[in-house]
Amino acid sequence: MFTVIDKCNKHIPLSEFVIMPKIKWTKIEEVLAGEHKEKPIHIRGWIYRTRSSGNIVFMMLRDVTGVLQATVKKGNLPDSEFEDAIKALIESSVHITGTVKEDKRAPGGYELQVTNLTVVNFAEPFPITKDQSPELLLDQRHLWIRSRKLTSILKIRSTVVGSIHSFFRKQGFYEYDAPVLQPNQCEGGSTLFEVKYYEDKTYLSQSWQLYAEAGIFALEKIYNMGPTFRAEKSKTSRHLSEFWMAEMEAAWMDLSDVIALAKDEVKYILAQVVQNNKKDLEVLGQDIAKLEAITKSEFPTITYTDALHILKEKESMNIEWGKDLRTIEEDKLMNHFKTPVVVTNYPLEIMAFYKPKDEKNPNTALCFDMLAPEGYGEIIGGSQRSTDIALMTERLKQMGENVENYQWYFDLRRFGSVPHSGYGLGVERLVAWICKAENIKDTIPFPRTLLRFRP
Ligand code: 4AD
Ligand code: MG
Repeated sequence: MFTVIDKCNKHIPLSEFVIMPKIKWTKIEEVLAGEHKEKPIHIRGWIYRTRSSGNIVFMMLRDVTGVLQATVKKGNLPDSEFEDAIKALIESSVHITGTVKEDKRAPGGYELQVTNLTVVNFAEPFPITKDQSPELLLDQRHLWIRSRKLTSILKIRSTVVGSIHSFFRKQGFYEYDAPVLQPNQCEGGSTLFEVKYYEDKTYLSQSWQLYAEAGIFALEKIYNMGPTFRAEKSKTSRHLSEFWMAEMEAAWMDLSDVIALAKDEVKYILAQVVQNNKKDLEVLGQDIAKLEAITKSEFPTITYTDALHILKEKESMNIEWGKDLRTIEEDKLMNHFKTPVVVTNYPLEIMAFYKPKDEKNPNTALCFDMLAPEGYGEIIGGSQRSTDIALMTERLKQMGENVENYQWYFDLRRFGSVPHSGYGLGVERLVAWICKAENIKDTIPFPRTLLRFRP
């Protein structure tokens, strides 16, 4: 016989327990899809808006799946519960039982006629009201997260992150982790975050790449998504100090291989979002048909030099060859494209130390950026990797680096070196473009920027 041991160590036969029927909670989206017409259901969620007049309270309830109108009429439920309905402020959490009625006047076409209401937590007056400044919303980020806009963006972000994993795993890539504390730079010393490390000092990761280059000699094709840190001194709508980068690195791949992979990856992610997040894209005012068309389009590849020609001819902008493309130039260039564009062969001089010279165009590097349309700028940066120890040493010295810290990295060129390439995709930049977000800060739950690391 099965027994259960109670608090006093007494064995009680299982059959003596009354198994309480579990309440079946209905999700709001099911109601809005017309699944429970005229039926009694239980809902749990939060009060999104509420107003009362006389003997009736109109409550908008929200759960993760949507917003539903609940009508609380005196007489349809115990009086004390009606009093609670009047008292409960927005963001109070509630359990509600009611009957679903079709009602053309209600938002979404359905309403819930309430027969029982339990307030799980009476909320204090909510500090966020309409039309608040972006700074106040950032101060109240822990509460603002539950807004419809952020909820939709975070759902899309979850699809994006899940798609990145499935994309690489389907193609036979292994997930591989690098340290977050790294003694060397990857993308230039000026944006390193310094960390006290016992009696010594180290830095927060600017990129997974250098350590990934060691991993490919074991696993050949690897990827990762992880927090990445850049002490960006500028306040722009595209820069975070802490962001998530999804990177890949593969042995035997050259520049054209990784460019093709990057295009496929972005199309795959986009297709997943279009398939899974239609409602969220609607909440955000994004044009779903436009995104869908992009998943089926060719993404052009041009060179940096081509980009300068376009800027000169179509935007009357004269950029001196050798200067990096700034935000303004990227935006002007992208006025002429509806899909993301890959730009290759940037000037070698201004590139990170590990980017190799293109022997066919010696002033340029075998590298690429992918730029998103509509003013979202660079979403991916990548390259083939240099195997020239002497040239990398020279370039690191020019940057004032201690070359000793990179000997382990050079060993990768000394023991069975192979051609290899990789790239990094800025998760928040991509999410910002897909969601039509005004600012990259809206694409991560708790943004860290030049001016903010709280709450
Ligand atoms: O172009 P980046 O600097 O490339 C690298 O770090 C390479 N080591 C990656 C690799 O080859 N494995 O950064 C890659 C991407 C950028 O294209 C951009 O999307 C994003 O990371 N990114 C940022 N996103 C938000 N805030 C910042 N401060 C960012 N800096 C770069
Ligand atoms: Mg870059």
